[in-house]
Amino acid sequence: MNPTAQHIRRLTDLLNRYAYEYYTLDAPSVPDAEYDKLFRELEALELNHPELKLPDSPTQRAGTEPLTAFAEVHHEVPMLSLTNAFSPRNENGVFDHSEMYAFDERIRNSLNGEKPQYVIEPKFDGLAISLLYRDGVLAQAATRGDGTTGEDVTQNVKTVANIPLRLHGDNIPKLIEVRGEILMLKADFITLNQHQTENGQKTFANPRNAAAGSLRQLDSRITAKRKLTFFPYSIAQQQGGKEFTTHTEEIDYLTTLGFGHKKLKNILKLNKFKDINDVLKRYEKMYEEERPSLPYEIDGMVVKVNSLAQQRELGFISRAPRWAIAHKFPAEEALTVVEAIDVQIGRTGAVTPVARLQPVFVGGVTVTNATLHNQDEVSRKDVRVGDTVVVRRAGDVIPEVVRVIFERRPMQETAVAVSDGLKHQQDDLFAETPSANQTQSVPLHKPYRLPTHCPICRSEIEREEGEAVARCSGGMLCQAQRAQGLIHFASRKAMDIDGLGQKQIEQLVAQDLVRHFADLYRLDIPTLQKMKETADKGSSENENGDAETVADDLSESNTQNGKKQPTKWAENILAGIEASKTPELARFLFALGIRHVGERTAKTLAQAFGSLEHVRRAPEPILACLPDIGTVVARSIAHFFAQDAQQAMIDELLAAGVAPQTQAVTIPPARHAEPQRWIARLPGFKISENKAQALWELAGKSIEGLQTDKALPADWQTWRSETQNTALLENLKTFFAQMPSEDEAVQRSDGINKAVAGKTFVLTGTLPTLKRDQAQALIEAAGGKVSGSVSKKTDYVVAGEAAGSKLEKANALGVSVLSEAELLTLLG
Ligand code: IVH
Repeated sequence: MNPTAQHIRRLTDLLNRYAYEYYTLDAPSVPDAEYDKLFRELEALELNHPELKLPDSPTQRAGTEPLTAFAEVHHEVPMLSLTNAFSPRNENGVFDHSEMYAFDERIRNSLNGEKPQYVIEPKFDGLAISLLYRDGVLAQAATRGDGTTGEDVTQNVKTVANIPLRLHGDNIPKLIEVRGEILMLKADFITLNQHQTENGQKTFANPRNAAAGSLRQLDSRITAKRKLTFFPYSIAQQQGGKEFTTHTEEIDYLTTLGFGHKKLKNILKLNKFKDINDVLKRYEKMYEEERPSLPYEIDGMVVKVNSLAQQRELGFISRAPRWAIAHKFPAEEALTVVEAIDVQIGRTGAVTPVARLQPVFVGGVTVTNATLHNQDEVSRKDVRVGDTVVVRRAGDVIPEVVRVIFERRPMQETAVAVSDGLKHQQDDLFAETPSANQTQSVPLHKPYRLPTHCPICRSEIEREEGEAVARCSGGMLCQAQRAQGLIHFASRKAMDIDGLGQKQIEQLVAQDLVRHFADLYRLDIPTLQKMKETADKGSSENENGDAETVADDLSESNTQNGKKQPTKWAENILAGIEASKTPELARFLFALGIRHVGERTAKTLAQAFGSLEHVRRAPEPILACLPDIGTVVARSIAHFFAQDAQQAMIDELLAAGVAPQTQAVTIPPARHAEPQRWIARLPGFKISENKAQALWELAGKSIEGLQTDKALPADWQTWRSETQNTALLENLKTFFAQMPSEDEAVQRSDGINKAVAGKTFVLTGTLPTLKRDQAQALIEAAGGKVSGSVSKKTDYVVAGEAAGSKLEKANALGVSVLSEAELLTLLG
């Protein structure tokens, strides 16, 4: 052999070994970079010496030139199928295993009293494949086809990472035909569909279809991009190599030859059972408990007689072995009819379309509702009222509508007036000329659209750009969202109402004793007493209900002389409520539960406006100029305060005695909302900051100018003439007239440290005494802001021990760096 050929042989062997270590053993002996380097070296050599390329070269893993058609392959040993057995479940979930008992009996009878040992394997839901190795090298891979003739998919199969191109170990047979299943792991399926969606390509209905679609590509380079996995389950032919007497030994031998998968080592360790009842127990456990967490889909278990001698004795019936059976899981899909489509409003306002179904028994339970997920899903599947649909219920998953049987869609005949234009078109299409008035069969029901308003509270249903989920914008106005809203309102980081927890709130809402935030401040002992009584009653009626737990919590309540006494627990709740009446402004804003307003945004709002009165009137473009607030968040805040019902709710809270504190303005809007910035953020008027600056100057640098100047560009004049925009400009004018200027803002803030107020700090490394959140609290108390990353806008970086890249960046940008001691001096 010439040196180049020798080198190619060496590289090929080395790379195949590395791939085996990586994919099968999960124990790579070299870093990825080393593999890549050798791979490229081999590629280059093969390019220059194509005649020296070896049949087991790992470079084929990436796929090769496309074929025009698959060649036919004759299966010397036919690829048979398995007899199925089902174990239907009754309404109580009890399995009827009679078909499996019959299988066991058949076997025991045929073996004349000899006891069988059973092994069970997953019934993989993929594609059967035959792999032929000659002298240890993968020579041919074929699909099952009709069992006698399949298709040659060798190039495609060579791209499957855990299929050895050359067998491993030291007992390699002269010839071996390995049979098994190629499938796509659930995780790889999800990734593939995401990728397909992102690239506007069709998605696959399930991992099986994805595996089939990927394997049957004439262009193996496409197959190479899809992640497929192989599981062996039998040897069809063998010359030389190890001999064995059981199926488990057969599988073990395959493992030594290099078949396996790093993440799924256990799968090839088969379970052995002597008693059919143990097989059935394992089956039930697999179905009910293990299946959802398996990394691949299975549609049952395969039960096989382990002894190969017994297998031979049992033989075959028609096209299936008598020694094995596919014990399928109960059907999880059934057909039924959609009677109506409603929406459900979740606790967070998420709107989910739900199909109301004619009751159908599937997967062991009667299903009457199935989720349709969201509008996009309904549209994609085109589910309509009256449709016959496939409903699927797998494990504990909520039943879902899988697809519509379009042939069964109810239709109606309608008369269509054929316009001339259309008539000509149709003349071309049909030999017969249609009459001017003809009937046409059209679906009885229209495509489904989500309602525009919430069925519970009538608030608008909104859907943000890029989001699949639509939401009811009602928030606390919506019964469905009330409990959630109140729990958030009372929570520790919001109003921090001691004693009022989730259970009490759920009870109060369920009994309709509290509807709005303000109702909490009107609670009294008799009302709480009533809540408890109803809860107690509920719990004695319903031993397991939630009400019971509420009662447990409230069990300090007592009865004296048969007369109800106000008790400590109720007093505690009322005290907690009372104590929450003067919250910091930021906590109050956070408590309102405005979408997208977390603690941090609430803090920014408080620091920018100083008082609730200013926040609730802040115009959207000003909000959008504040640090860390983008257009989406600004729109959400503005939308919240634009609703009369929300403003009324705030007024009620104030009337009930809640008085959010006012605070120093340390992020003055005037400093952030310069004219060109807020003009560039006006809703519905797209303009760059540069052009906004020009417009501002053209308008004589005044809002009046923007409102009235007739010489301004036409598109501006059109925009400002729209009612809501006219109102917005007026708001902006009032807002600026009322907002203090930056100097005033900082001066008005008594006790505020000018060196810190309004300044942005970044904390990095470990400080000698202060914890990070303590330092943050001190800075914020003094009116400063703490940010996570260093930029030109950072005023100070406070660096402790082991400060890393942030410190480097601060130095590079010339930002002042402080020690903890210096920070404390600055804070005074
Ligand atoms: S053994 C004589 N074992 O099921 C046939 N088959 O319905 C022996 N299958 O086409 C097949 N998982 O592709 C066997 N653990 C398993 C299996 C399995 C899935 C497929 C196989 C076959 C089909 C038969």
